[in-house]
Amino acid sequence: MSRSGRTARPRHYLMCRPHYFDVRYSINPWMDPTQPTVTETGLSQWKRLHDVFVELGHRIDLIEPVPDLPDMVFAANGATVLDGRVLVARFRHDYRAGESPAYLDWFAERGWGEVRQAEYVNEGEGDFLLAGDTLLAGSGFRSDPRAQREAEEFFGRSVLGLTLVDPRFYHLDTALAVLDRDEIMYYPAAFSPESREVLADRFPGAVLAEEADAVAFGLNAVSDGLHVVLPEQARGLAGRLAERGFEPIGVDLSELLKAGGSAKCCTLELRPAPAVRPSRRV
Ligand code: ARG
Repeated sequence: MSRSGRTARPRHYLMCRPHYFDVRYSINPWMDPTQPTVTETGLSQWKRLHDVFVELGHRIDLIEPVPDLPDMVFAANGATVLDGRVLVARFRHDYRAGESPAYLDWFAERGWGEVRQAEYVNEGEGDFLLAGDTLLAGSGFRSDPRAQREAEEFFGRSVLGLTLVDPRFYHLDTALAVLDRDEIMYYPAAFSPESREVLADRFPGAVLAEEADAVAFGLNAVSDGLHVVLPEQARGLAGRLAERGFEPIGVDLSELLKAGGSAKCCTLELRPAPAVRPSRRV
């Protein structure tokens, strides 16, 4: 436990080395294929993120990158994994459709229980974030709102739908991060007025981000309950988190931001089924 009373819980993440990272098409406002990208820089920035997670004691698995899938580094989009059940993504754009079979195989080969591809467009943890026992579900740009009912049935958890309205924040994880069970931070202007009301009502103590931190992708953060790994450019947000007793850890992922992604986009949380305790003989 930290001095602030916050506790880190070790996590299990799936990541994908940006071996084929590039910006060759544009499916969000950050992507400009005419701007050069340097795969080597992307690789070393990603490696640093990976090493930070290892230093924090998290377990990291890797999925093999596939040629011609330059966005595959954004592993958060590959699936949603909860209670050992795996709902693999169905991507909005054909450019990324080839990632789904790679994730289906990865989970099936490792004996994960129920592994299935979503029927409706569903970009994994890009749009589905677990807060306590509720799945927060974004729609508006990528995931189909019908994916929410599907996720509710598949996981047996309640789903809270949120509508995104600013194309710069096209996935929920670009506009909102879960810090601890019921603590979140978000950028209000990224959401429809109705969703803003829902968020204010449900999370009255949330950290509200300023635009400067939001456009630095500060909300694309990964928290273990104590450490919050986020882009180092989001300095304001880092200060706010520290005031609340979190330990912000800045990483430079500027190369990956050229594709519209940062720390959280690179990180898919794997949540196994709760261990079954052997029943006691009486
Ligand atoms: N270029 C990718 C896309 O537009 C970036 C994905 C970012 N991932 C995320 N979880 N927000 O699909």
